[in-house]
Amino acid sequence: MQTEVIKLDRENMDLDALKRAGEIIKSGGLVAFPTETVYGLGGDGLHEESSRKIYESKGRPSDNPLIVHVADMEHLEKIVKKVPKAAYKLAEAFWPGPMTMILEKNDLVPYGTTGGLDTVAIRMPSDPIALELIRQGGGYIAAPSANTSGRPSPTTAQHVYEDLQGKIPMILDGGAVTIGLESTIVDLTEEIPTILRPGFISLDMVQAVLGEAQIDRGLIANDSNIHPKAPGMKYRHYAPKADLKIVEGPMEQVISYINEQAEKGRTGIICTEETRSRYPKGDIKCVGTRKDELSIASHLFAVLREFDEDGVEQIYSESFKAPGLGEAIMNRLLKAAGH
Ligand code: TXA
Ligand code: MG
Repeated sequence: MQTEVIKLDRENMDLDALKRAGEIIKSGGLVAFPTETVYGLGGDGLHEESSRKIYESKGRPSDNPLIVHVADMEHLEKIVKKVPKAAYKLAEAFWPGPMTMILEKNDLVPYGTTGGLDTVAIRMPSDPIALELIRQGGGYIAAPSANTSGRPSPTTAQHVYEDLQGKIPMILDGGAVTIGLESTIVDLTEEIPTILRPGFISLDMVQAVLGEAQIDRGLIANDSNIHPKAPGMKYRHYAPKADLKIVEGPMEQVISYINEQAEKGRTGIICTEETRSRYPKGDIKCVGTRKDELSIASHLFAVLREFDEDGVEQIYSESFKAPGLGEAIMNRLLKAAGH
């Protein structure tokens, strides 16, 4: 299969191209598209056969459910049993945007999309290209991140092309995404609203809207008997080919430890603008500045991909523990490191 890549300008969107993309989705095909978080691999969320194709092209285990993307609240109301007050509040605060809600599904949503679960993940993205594709594609686009399963999520159309060329008919190219980490997932089927995956929308932000919210214990537990609730969080994701280790501690000690390790072989180093000049040796990648965590989030996956191309033997990263976005950055790094 030939993969067509179409460059789109958000200020002046090529509606004919988006209509064509929508036709592909409606006839059961797949289209990769940009969102503000990462690129998605979209298919018709209400057709099992499209979901099956998504799993197949990504090489993803089919018990790992997909997120259904909508462009308005009416479409959400049509596919769930009921919309709790908390869902309206979260939507009002964060949609369109980088937040996904888990609600009880109704019969319109096939089990092939939810990995056999009675709940469905739903998100309204803010990228105008994504919103227009959803409208043109029939209103419900199931989309996981558009990477081959196990690779870092794609933050440019080029990343998608590397992973999926020849496997899907079309990629919509909207340039580099703005956030670079996948959406925050909030489970509203539990008594206390629970964050199953941290993202740009932090626990504090969710608590400010709902009053009460918590983080899934399975995400932070060191005890391997406690499993994360989002099936996808149990897989080792975002894995670079080389062994990745995250170094924590006072910054001076972190720097000297990493420099010692860099003597031992072809070493990749993930650092920040603040520390770049302190590493004399190694394949040094500056991921962003600590003054702007979004700069770190938006470059992290691209940096992990670059190390694969460079063929380093080991990777050492500074750590980014902090509340808010730092929590999401650390979560992805830990998963890339296999904890
Ligand atoms: O930012 C994002 O969310 C991106 C863009 C494309 O929207 N999508 C994305 O999808 O990250 P994916 O498939 O890579 O991750 C979806 C996550 C998985 O960890 C999955 O297990 C979880 O959401 N999930 C989906 N449905 C669920 C459900 N019903 N209950 C619990 N977790 C669910
Ligand atoms: Mg993913």
